[in-house]
Amino acid sequence: MKASDISATNDQLGFIERSSELIRKNEERSGRKLTASVITFGCQMNARDSEKLAGILVSAGFELLEDTEDADFVLYNTCTVRDNANQKLYGHLGEALSRKKKKPDMMVAVCGCLPQEPSALEKLKKSYSFVDLIFGTHNLYAFPEYLSRLLAGERHIYEIVDHTDNIVEDLPILRKYPFKSGVNIMFGCNNFCTYCIVPHVRGRERSRESADILDEIKRLSESGVKEVMLLGQNVNSYGNGIQGEISFPELLKRVCDVDGIERVRFMTSHPKDLSEELIQTIKSNDKICRHLHLPLQSGSTKVLKEMNRRYTKEQYTELALHIREEIPDIALTTDIMVGFPGETESDVNDTIDVINTVKYDNAFTFIYSKRMGTPAAVREDQVPEALVKESFDRVLKCVQENAREQSLRWQGLTLPALVEEVNTSLEGYVTGRLSNNMIVHFPGEPSLIGTIVPVRLDECRGFYYMGSITV
Ligand code: 5AD
Ligand code: SF4
Repeated sequence: MKASDISATNDQLGFIERSSELIRKNEERSGRKLTASVITFGCQMNARDSEKLAGILVSAGFELLEDTEDADFVLYNTCTVRDNANQKLYGHLGEALSRKKKKPDMMVAVCGCLPQEPSALEKLKKSYSFVDLIFGTHNLYAFPEYLSRLLAGERHIYEIVDHTDNIVEDLPILRKYPFKSGVNIMFGCNNFCTYCIVPHVRGRERSRESADILDEIKRLSESGVKEVMLLGQNVNSYGNGIQGEISFPELLKRVCDVDGIERVRFMTSHPKDLSEELIQTIKSNDKICRHLHLPLQSGSTKVLKEMNRRYTKEQYTELALHIREEIPDIALTTDIMVGFPGETESDVNDTIDVINTVKYDNAFTFIYSKRMGTPAAVREDQVPEALVKESFDRVLKCVQENAREQSLRWQGLTLPALVEEVNTSLEGYVTGRLSNNMIVHFPGEPSLIGTIVPVRLDECRGFYYMGSITV
């Protein structure tokens, strides 16, 4: 850790103390505990950030609620990757306003990706002026400071910065699951795909030092974590920019060697940077989960070029088939976008062709969403909505057919499952996750949660299994 980062951590720990005092005084006055709620939108990165925000709130003395209904402090950790994420937030804020009208002391905060986008920030300030605190992705670590100012009575705290070199370690974290955890290995993205707002709102790529990552994972393991997911927008370029830093495959090996860690996942890999060394590392290490998420976006070489993805249809297909050949029990999943400007029927056919060749185990399909400030947004050849809808349906149908066929390949096998939770719709059942990321429901006691048990996959029901524990 850099000296400046250590001092930033100490400052923020001081602000948590200050917030605790203010909360104690408030509780003495009101005779009840102050409550808070964190609502998360978007990706695993945001989910991990929310654990940090929740950790800070609890350390300061808030009681955390699942629901926003009664909370004294509501924090929305936002996403802006597609416009529907923005619309979802505005819907939530509408509800927050009606609660705040009844309960004027209620505090509302918005953080994360959305306020990093200048026009969205303006809209928040203008149309949602009841929001008391707004901060972005680069200064998330300074939340304790903003919180203490809010608790001291300050309002309209707008703190957005457009970049940071800091990676502040060691602030409190409240994990959602005691037995598994995400671990950031890098922040930001340098790829600038022409449709994507992420590099604009999350900034340039910054890797954490491997020593800090491994220390965090050792501590997680000591506290009972068995599965870690290494998080980054493009994990294959881990370490770039830090002199003498180890490569991503080497980091994976070292994480697997941490005592007590039984499973390692990672997300996301950019196909252009996926090395043979990584494939061989996965192949030769059973602790690395049999799941690779390899975003395709489009199967058309022309569209890929315009997206600045830096691979062709043929390069992608060759890579995916090579991975399937080397690691036959791996599940391959992907992201696909439909309706990128200029996309023709023949481009969509190329995408369908790749889906049928790679036979994804699962895929997220998205309709292209215009993001302000990205090169694709100003193109004049935006695809008409009706055509996009038709293409989307074709792609989705193809994805589903392949996924159904693929998921059948595990039927009858007995595989280890990490038991994650009690199944709330089937009494007496628990739900586990396989190494390949598929879900299995089976009869079992809640005491199994957090353990890895062998489960026979009796019946495939589309995207999940019904199974039974074997002894
Ligand atoms: N419109 C639609 N989907 C997008 N994604 C990123 N930007 C956009 C956009 N402007 C999708 C990509 C990416 C996933 C996280 O979100 O498929 O892989
Ligand atoms: Fe966005 Fe491309 Fe970076 Fe992924 S790799 S976050 S799609 S710019």
